[in-house]
Amino acid sequence: MDLKRIERPRGTRDFLPEDMEKRRELENTIRSIVESFGYREIQTPTFEHLELFTIKSGEEIVKEMYSFKDKSGRDLALRPELTAPVMRLLVNECSHLPKPIRFYYFSNCFRYERPQRGRYREFWQFGVELIGSDSYLADAEVIYLAYKILKSLNINFELRVGHVGLLRFILRDLDETHTSRVMRLIDKKDIKGLIEFFENIKVNKETKEILLSIVEKSGRSDILDDVKSIVSDFNFGHIEKVCEILDNLEVDYKLDFGIARGLDYYTGIVFEAYAEGLGAQNQVCGGGSYRLAHLFGGEDIPCTGFALGFDRLMEIYECKPREKIKIVVVDLGYKSDALKVAEIIRDSVKGVSVITDTMERSVKKQLSYANDIKADFALFVGKKELETGKFSFKNLKTGEQFELSLDDIINKIKMYTQQKA
Ligand code: HAM
Repeated sequence: MDLKRIERPRGTRDFLPEDMEKRRELENTIRSIVESFGYREIQTPTFEHLELFTIKSGEEIVKEMYSFKDKSGRDLALRPELTAPVMRLLVNECSHLPKPIRFYYFSNCFRYERPQRGRYREFWQFGVELIGSDSYLADAEVIYLAYKILKSLNINFELRVGHVGLLRFILRDLDETHTSRVMRLIDKKDIKGLIEFFENIKVNKETKEILLSIVEKSGRSDILDDVKSIVSDFNFGHIEKVCEILDNLEVDYKLDFGIARGLDYYTGIVFEAYAEGLGAQNQVCGGGSYRLAHLFGGEDIPCTGFALGFDRLMEIYECKPREKIKIVVVDLGYKSDALKVAEIIRDSVKGVSVITDTMERSVKKQLSYANDIKADFALFVGKKELETGKFSFKNLKTGEQFELSLDDIINKIKMYTQQKA
């Protein structure tokens, strides 16, 4: 039979140990920062009822979803993002918790998009949701948190803050479908398409002019006076206070009223971060304030949050994951004794890898394998060792060899571990 090789599905990736070690390093760095702000981890199912996402996630995401019927004919979808699932979880499981609730997640998402550099069909998001407050303090906290994480990664990025509430206010005479279409065009920076669409739906001249002049405004917080003079009947108090906090915390950001976000649920402040060195798919963070819980049968709770594009960050994040010290136990023919010695080392020194022979190889081959996997030490278990309690212990990096008791070997490994830390 002619068996053909099975490739992985388009837009997905395999991760080798080196990749995973680096991914865990990045994950742990982000995890420790969000936890230092009081966020606690949650996890939701990989697939949900399709309608969870079709209710309010925007037309883009619906086209891009992996949706399917299960064997009982239910319409399901692999999650394209986690904000809607978190809101469902909130309504179902924890609406009684004291507010505000601070949740975070690190999970894979699935979008049926055209794969390219930085755009995958399976990708990971690290996100936070701050639930229960519509105060400027909540928006300021999540924006600052996103900024702090990105800063800690030593990458070059630009943070932009906008306000879809202002855009929606300007568009208040349009119906929801038209508003959604306009937001999509703004999000894509398709100004030509936007002008054409306004002409088609016969928007009044004033709305059109105000919107076009606003979406092209970006800069420091001092552009607010300019924007206020264009939309004089909007309350700018919230965004002014957010800016004041960000300025005081010395956050480097720009206001940008052309940020519309690709998802329909945002209501107020929105923000995005773009990183250098990524090519076209350079958005590494997106978020803002939104209301969704009432659509899933809960109270109308104000929320704010963001998600980081973990895979995009991985491309530009530089780190050298600390390698575990490897000790190969070379078995001279005393199988279960060698395994016992390995267990003693594992239990006595934390954070090292103790590797035993599982191929019944000769001593020469066991040593050659130890070199191939770049082990630090070889510990020999033979007749002499078991009788005298003194084991041959070789530093494979320097070639030095010692005859030591297991206690002394353990101390040596501990010292070596401390030096390498
Ligand atoms: P989003 O902007 O659609 O927002 O996704 C967040 C981040 O996920 C993006 O900024 C990007 O870095 C990354 N991302 C999106 N699609 C892909 C892809 N195909 N391949 C690789 N990375 C990708 C949300 O999903 C919102 N739920 C964020 C949020 C949380 N808003 C409030 N709370």
